Amino acid sequence: IKNRCFYFNEINSTNGFLLEHVKDLSSGDICVAEYQSAGRGRRGRQWVSPYGCHLYTSFYWQFSQGMAQAMGLSLVVGCSLVTVLRSLGVDGIGVKWPNDIYLNHKKLAGILIEMSGQADSVCDLVIGIGINLSMSPAQADKIDQPWSDLSELTQLPDKTELMIALQQQLVTDLELFQRQGLKAFQSRWREADLFDGEPIKLLMGENSVEGICCGIDEQGAILLKTEEGTKAFVGGEISMRPA
Ligand code: BTN
Repeated sequence: IKNRCFYFNEINSTNGFLLEHVKDLSSGDICVAEYQSAGRGRRGRQWVSPYGCHLYTSFYWQFSQGMAQAMGLSLVVGCSLVTVLRSLGVDGIGVKWPNDIYLNHKKLAGILIEMSGQADSVCDLVIGIGINLSMSPAQADKIDQPWSDLSELTQLPDKTELMIALQQQLVTDLELFQRQGLKAFQSRWREADLFDGEPIKLLMGENSVEGICCGIDEQGAILLKTEEGTKAFVGGEISMRPA
């Protein structure tokens, strides 16, 4: 057996656990919990993590080329999730640049990548994934955007099967990413992109730009066809809404 799974009934954050133990980990190790007391979301937000409603998992990978590729990495993870969910028979899965997985046009899963180490040499990456399995009404009230969960399906995938399939797919895709970069994922991304070919608005703090969404470049920036030609926009605080 090459990789380990650190399983907890309760933990503060599966991302936090792996980040604290990077010295003892091998690429491909995962951490899974039933409950997180301090689940973390993107942009410093909390990720409310009660029992029974989600899969909370984190995946460790070491990069020798530094942090520059992390932006592209979240798109790779999105492609991995799409592949796994579809392979388990889930229809209606799509991606929203740069980090969200949607089921029937509502958010199903989120990705949070955190890292430690050197910006330009060996760096340790932790990829956290939260997937809504079956949300309770009380919990659903706390979510400030349209959401979906896998209980909408006639047959709910088995949680362990989902976790194992995800670990294996991530290993395959991260190895491919290391060998070939993001260009190996561009067609998979476009095929799953809910906004491909659609008019969209990118919100960047006070500013916004409108255009037609036309895929991603090799760094993971979103490409927008605007009146001044096709332009690439990188992540950070950019969010996206249909125009
Ligand atoms: C988002 O804000 O959309 C990303 C949410 C990521 C949540 C997952 S749950 C498992 C892992 N551990 C955490 O503390 N956060 C991530």
